[in-house]
Amino acid sequence: MPSTTASSPESNACWQQRSRRNVWHPCTQSIRLEAVPPLPIARGEGVWLFDQEGRRYMDATSSWWVNLFGHAHPALNAALKNQLDRFSHVMLAGCTHAPAVELAERLSLLTGHALGHCFYASDGASAVEIALKMSFHAWRNAGRGGKRRFVALKQGYHGETLGALHVTDVPVFRDAYAPLLANAHLVASPDARNARTGEDAAAVARRAAAELETLLAGQHDTIAAVIVEPLVQCATGMAMHDPEYLRLVRALCDRHAVHLIADEIAVGCGRTGSFFACEQAGIWPDFLCLSKGISGGYLPLALVMTRDAIYEGFVDDDVARSFLHSHSYTGNALACRAAVATLDLFDSEDALQRNRGRAARLLQRLREGLEGQPVDHLRQQGMITAFDVREPGTRFAERFHLAARAQGLLMRPIGNTVYLMPPYAIGDGEIDQLVDGTLATLKAVMATNQEEGARDVALA
Ligand SMILES: Cc1ncc(COP(=O)(O)O)c(C=O)c1O
Repeated sequence: MPSTTASSPESNACWQQRSRRNVWHPCTQSIRLEAVPPLPIARGEGVWLFDQEGRRYMDATSSWWVNLFGHAHPALNAALKNQLDRFSHVMLAGCTHAPAVELAERLSLLTGHALGHCFYASDGASAVEIALKMSFHAWRNAGRGGKRRFVALKQGYHGETLGALHVTDVPVFRDAYAPLLANAHLVASPDARNARTGEDAAAVARRAAAELETLLAGQHDTIAAVIVEPLVQCATGMAMHDPEYLRLVRALCDRHAVHLIADEIAVGCGRTGSFFACEQAGIWPDFLCLSKGISGGYLPLALVMTRDAIYEGFVDDDVARSFLHSHSYTGNALACRAAVATLDLFDSEDALQRNRGRAARLLQRLREGLEGQPVDHLRQQGMITAFDVREPGTRFAERFHLAARAQGLLMRPIGNTVYLMPPYAIGDGEIDQLVDGTLATLKAVMATNQEEGARDVALA
């Protein structure tokens, strides 16, 4: 049990206070830090995180979708300790090393060598920057420098550096910086929730693709690439679409000589049910961005995979035709070693197969529990499950987050969308705890909605 008191230097309150003083928290409205103090995490084990005072919380969002096999996994820890005793980092220009080589080889194999070369970076947004730059540069090397614009999907999210933000369409992240951003073409999202009467998800996909077709037919001479989040637009609120959309986009890109960039930063590494989401459509993009789960959620690592033919276009005596992009920590050996060990776990834990059972149990339990609740669009794609709350009331996401803490869950709804994206390490009993806790949280939050509503009526 907690052995600390509120004033003890190891108490939650003490760390919260110190954090507020000197840490600028990401994606956080700092004025709300008093009402929603950050959880001071002391350690993790499997799907659980423990605060300074020993209370545990299930990491139901895999810590922003990065953690795959749980916290402090013995195999990942051992792989990292082993690498640590050899060396941690060396620059990847002029040097190379086993973890970077092995990771690139293994990933290429996973694409059946369709994507033969791997360029390393750190966070997801840096991978998106690289893919955008590579696409433009590849066209320039091919004598088509006029192809310099990008097509992105409405509701899409690709990160928050300026290049990535220009292809992002989530107002809360984008609007303040709009004056700094280049113009991307925005086309309809294939979000299956947009189905009109009589339409299924594939029909929504065809309708969205038709809009892209019109754009590409008219303007392909100035367009370098289309960037998509295959199967799930996560950051907008887990908007899911039919794989038919990806097939159609691939065909349109081929027809109009436009690159396809698949941003699998959130949806890759098994999250949607297959290792790469694109596999479910039977297509490969020209550039594929990975990050988040690839290092098992241990270390910042991102990468862009591309076709050998595109790589070859950069192999030239002329320095202007080379891709001279670099980051200091590109190909960090510890991060790459964590990634290779993560790929090993996919095999040794038969993760993709076992996740099918996990996902089915979660959906079934949730479907039963949500019967009669004020929610819409219960949906699932692999290990991503979500539903939308009707009439969520004010500050819904924040109130839900706090109420979930009381249930021992770490959750962060997006707007009125509640989603469950637990690590693959989750066991049957833990799935039940997750579902029960989510339902209890929903009921508690909806009850306070009613109280607030009643107070408003009383005051009116
Ligand atoms: C699809 C997608 N692309 C890019 C990013 C940006 O990654 P990072 O936050 O590591 O920069 C994210 C992050 O959530 C994402 O979901």
